[in-house]
Amino acid sequence: MLRYSHLVGALPAVVPFVPPEAFERRLGHPIKIRIGANESAFGPSPKVVEAIKAAAHQINWYCDPEGYVLREALARHHGVARENIGLGIGADDILGLVVRSMIDPGDPVVMSHGAYPTFAFHVAGFGGKFVTPPYRDFRNDAQALADAAAASNAKLVYLSNPDNPTGSWLSVEEQQAILAKLPPGALFVLDEAYSDFAPEGSLPELDPEDPRVIRIRTFSKAHGMAGARVGYAIGAKSLIASFDKIRHHFGVTRLSQEAALASLNDPAYIADVRQRVTEGRRDYAVLAEELGLKPLPSSTNFVAMDMGDGDRARQTLARLLEDEAVFLRMPGVAPLDRLIRVTVGTPAERLGFAAALRRVLTHSA
Ligand SMILES: Cc1ncc(COP(=O)(O)O)c(C=O)c1O
Repeated sequence: MLRYSHLVGALPAVVPFVPPEAFERRLGHPIKIRIGANESAFGPSPKVVEAIKAAAHQINWYCDPEGYVLREALARHHGVARENIGLGIGADDILGLVVRSMIDPGDPVVMSHGAYPTFAFHVAGFGGKFVTPPYRDFRNDAQALADAAAASNAKLVYLSNPDNPTGSWLSVEEQQAILAKLPPGALFVLDEAYSDFAPEGSLPELDPEDPRVIRIRTFSKAHGMAGARVGYAIGAKSLIASFDKIRHHFGVTRLSQEAALASLNDPAYIADVRQRVTEGRRDYAVLAEELGLKPLPSSTNFVAMDMGDGDRARQTLARLLEDEAVFLRMPGVAPLDRLIRVTVGTPAERLGFAAALRRVLTHSA
């Protein structure tokens, strides 16, 4: 018997995300429509592909572990100093660094019940104690998060804004209300993975040197680079520097750094993706209404549709997978488990999904 740490030995065996590849292995045939992981259906900018090709022959070299050029470019993009930018192996990695930096076993962490599972995964992995106020009308409840933070003396308060899995967003004022009640020494973890799709005025102006906040962004969504694993944090220099004690220095590979730089230098492409995603969300809203499902307002690259109850949502998801080879995901906990979450696909994928969903709902009626 291996002598696991108390923490890991006590954790349940989990597969936080069953990947579409695992479903394909189980089903014995390919997934036809992959709209479950909020990847970009529109792929990366052609300039990204060129940059990867150009850098491919240097794959024998390690990356620059300081990510100097990319951090410099990101700093310019955001009007902050390079030392305010920290790179991570996707936003998920940065969430792990934040939790590991701040949480000792038993320390309280506030997030909405059913919020982004990877953050919860890291908190469980480092022994944090959850305080999870419920969503309210499928939105994060700023007042409840603020009150819970104050009452529990939380060390971390997590908010994904715009939100996964609901697609909703909080106003700047609502976010300020959370900040205002943050306990001394606590950190507000503002996960802005979907910031490229956020409505005007929902991303707060924050002093990068404000020690109470870290904002986290990614190239996985609008930039269409989920497979490259590039995320970054904007935060106080001392906080960003603290990650150097524990981070995986060579994790954001040479090719990924070059790819991110090329994408950052192609804002027209991102604007186009944003436009196409807006059209896709509109299509999904129309489809949901037609089928008597409630589409939730979304400022992300997906739309959550309310199926009315959890069993119906789970059955719909299973039928879409087994009968139609359509891959979707849905939240795991009630009451969010009434939702199915549909990533915006290409126009052809959207048509295919619409036909598949109509068939599934007709058969189960
Ligand atoms: C809220 C949120 N944060 C972070 C991530 C992960 O981003 P990355 O691919 O950069 O790890 C996702 C991906 O779905 C997300 O929805």
